[in-house]
Amino acid sequence: MTTERRKFEHIKICLEEDVQSKHNYLEDISFLHSALPEVNFDDIETEVKIFGKRLSFPLFISAMTGGTEEALKINKAIAKACQKTEIGMGLGSQRAMIEDPSLTHTYDIRKYAKDILLIGNIGLPQFVKGYTEKEAMFAVNEIKADMLAVHLNSLQEVSQPEGDLSFKNGLSILKKLKEKLPFPLIAKETGAGISREVAEHLTFLDGVDVAGLGGTSWSAVEYYRANQHKETVKRLWNWGIPTPLSIAECKVAGIRTIIGSGGVRTGFDIAKCIALGASACGIALPFLKPAVEENVDALVEKIETLKREFKIAMFLNSCQNPIDLKTRPLFFTGELSKLMEQREMDFHYFNYR
Ligand SMILES: Cc1cc2nc3c(=O)[nH]c(=O)nc-3n(C[C@H](O)[C@H](O)[C@H](O)COP(=O)(O)O)c2cc1C
Repeated sequence: MTTERRKFEHIKICLEEDVQSKHNYLEDISFLHSALPEVNFDDIETEVKIFGKRLSFPLFISAMTGGTEEALKINKAIAKACQKTEIGMGLGSQRAMIEDPSLTHTYDIRKYAKDILLIGNIGLPQFVKGYTEKEAMFAVNEIKADMLAVHLNSLQEVSQPEGDLSFKNGLSILKKLKEKLPFPLIAKETGAGISREVAEHLTFLDGVDVAGLGGTSWSAVEYYRANQHKETVKRLWNWGIPTPLSIAECKVAGIRTIIGSGGVRTGFDIAKCIALGASACGIALPFLKPAVEENVDALVEKIETLKREFKIAMFLNSCQNPIDLKTRPLFFTGELSKLMEQREMDFHYFNYR
């Protein structure tokens, strides 16, 4: 099957089927309401600076696509909405344009979003199989992106029949890339999260995007496509480290900049991720439908709703700036609480800070 055909199928499945993990662990977190906020709602400042650029509030639209004319339309709509609302954007895997540079224009959206923080994207297996800093520079420079995310997608690859299962020496490859690249470099999961043990090896990077369990499940997406090993792929549907646990683990490991993603669906979720230790959040799936419809107004409206909810969460937590959220108490219930306990997370710190 061609990469183009596969990408088309992925998008179609994401639009038409239930592809999310069975539980969103961000629902297992609550804040301590402040009856005396001591801030005026209209004076609350939501902006943050990340990787050298300003965001009007801590949000990216996460990596989704590129490489086809359909993908160009999606990327263009997302870019316009991000420029208008002053948030960041991740592009989908740029393998297609590296292998066929005539496809570069399907990622080249800088002209529609001249100020945004724009993140390029290449999979780790491509580097294991021979890409070097040359391909990384090409991917970022050709489309005037600001930095690169190398995606770690072992769960996705092992779930798909044509999957690329080359991951050996990944860490030393990332180290070499970091030494040679003149722009920020992050590692990004794609829905299964990053543990403390892995994060401890990644502190030399500029950051990580946890893309944890709780939102889009790539095994779920591949389940609908599978015509062999279907039951095995189904058993992987909920494999991974929940997003909030992964953020807390990356924080403990000492990761510099953490992007919280995987099931972030509301502005309240964004506030929870920031309170756990993330610097910003990423959301992919909920933006896919309006982007496919090239409905920039609908994208903007969704982003504005998220921003308003984020501001309400700040207000009810008595926060003037996003950074204040990091000192507000958090409570954990349900499955998340049990997992955090087993991972020896410091509940006292979160409950009483
Ligand atoms: C249609 C689609 C395509 C995606 N393609 C990529 C990709 O090329 N590279 C990547 O790093 N992540 C990719 N992702 C993963 C997302 O960037 C994100 O990490 C993941 O979907 C979790 O976020 P969500 O629950 O908000 O969707 C894709 C997600 C979707 C829904």
